[in-house]
Amino acid sequence: MGWNSWNHFADHVTDADVRSAADQLVSSGMRDAGYIYVNVDDTWEGERDANGVLHTNSKFPDMKALADYVHSKGLKFGIYSSPGPKTCGGYAGSFGHEAQDAKMYAAWGVDYLKYDLCSFQDNMRAERDAHPDDPMAEYKLMIAAYKKMGDALRATGRPIVYSLCQYGLDEPWKFGPGVGATMWCTTDDINDTFQRMMNIAYAQVGLGKYTAPGRWNDPDMLEVGNGGMNTSEYKVHMSLWAVLGAPLLAGNDLSRMSAADKAILTNRDVIAIDQDALGKGGDRLRQIGDLSIWERPLSGGRTAVAIVNASLGGRDVPIDLATIGFPQGAKARDVWA
Ligand code: GLA
Repeated sequence: MGWNSWNHFADHVTDADVRSAADQLVSSGMRDAGYIYVNVDDTWEGERDANGVLHTNSKFPDMKALADYVHSKGLKFGIYSSPGPKTCGGYAGSFGHEAQDAKMYAAWGVDYLKYDLCSFQDNMRAERDAHPDDPMAEYKLMIAAYKKMGDALRATGRPIVYSLCQYGLDEPWKFGPGVGATMWCTTDDINDTFQRMMNIAYAQVGLGKYTAPGRWNDPDMLEVGNGGMNTSEYKVHMSLWAVLGAPLLAGNDLSRMSAADKAILTNRDVIAIDQDALGKGGDRLRQIGDLSIWERPLSGGRTAVAIVNASLGGRDVPIDLATIGFPQGAKARDVWA
């Protein structure tokens, strides 16, 4: 759980925005609700010098000082790079400098790396063209690139969450653990619309069994508070991410968060479902038209159930408890009410 700069600030993010996000995580109570990681996404990178050392650009004057500031608030610090020569925003990636970059992150005090495929797709296309007889050529190259950074991070001796971002290509839920990853995007990017958020949720169907402690499917960062959905839609978003057992990375401007959005992000019961100690994934149980029923096994023999009405209007939804796994009936609690 934490916050990431991309969904709201995108390429405009600055050192001051990240410090402010750290401040707001504390003052809003989000840190104490579990939002610990403060993750700088793309566009912090400057140029490499003659020794290959990557410098920050003018938006981030001193990354070590920023990490120290974040740590001083009882938070952890995340950063972003790509296995390719360029990031998705066209900034310097880690290609050919993996061990050097990993050491620098560790020296800065980085606790989390998002490693985004981006321009490495050009390397993969070149590999495919160079080995027309090997249908696995580009896949093997990608695995090797992700493993290279996974190994480099481990070699630093600093525990660093390793987050793969390669848009769910080639089933990262299968190869992620083998390259040292903690979590992996399962789809292409989210955006702040109910339709895209629901499509991402539907793309998680069947993947629940791949989630386990330290192995997390990542349906992308939250859009709660960014203004493109209404309060009930954001509740659906948060409910689905919790019932899937997804990483919860807020992606909004915390300095301008409404009370309603804050209540969604800090609902203790919903967070407890997301963070349940059993660490199993959730999945869709049934789909009936626009109505979907999702469940997640929880510790203590409990089950979280999300009943999602994705149609335009409100409606009464009779649920037969037997069809959702409780033929004897159940003691239930509505965590939003
Ligand atoms: C890709 C990722 C996004 C974000 C941008 C940054 O699109 O999927 O989450 O990191 O790159 O350029």
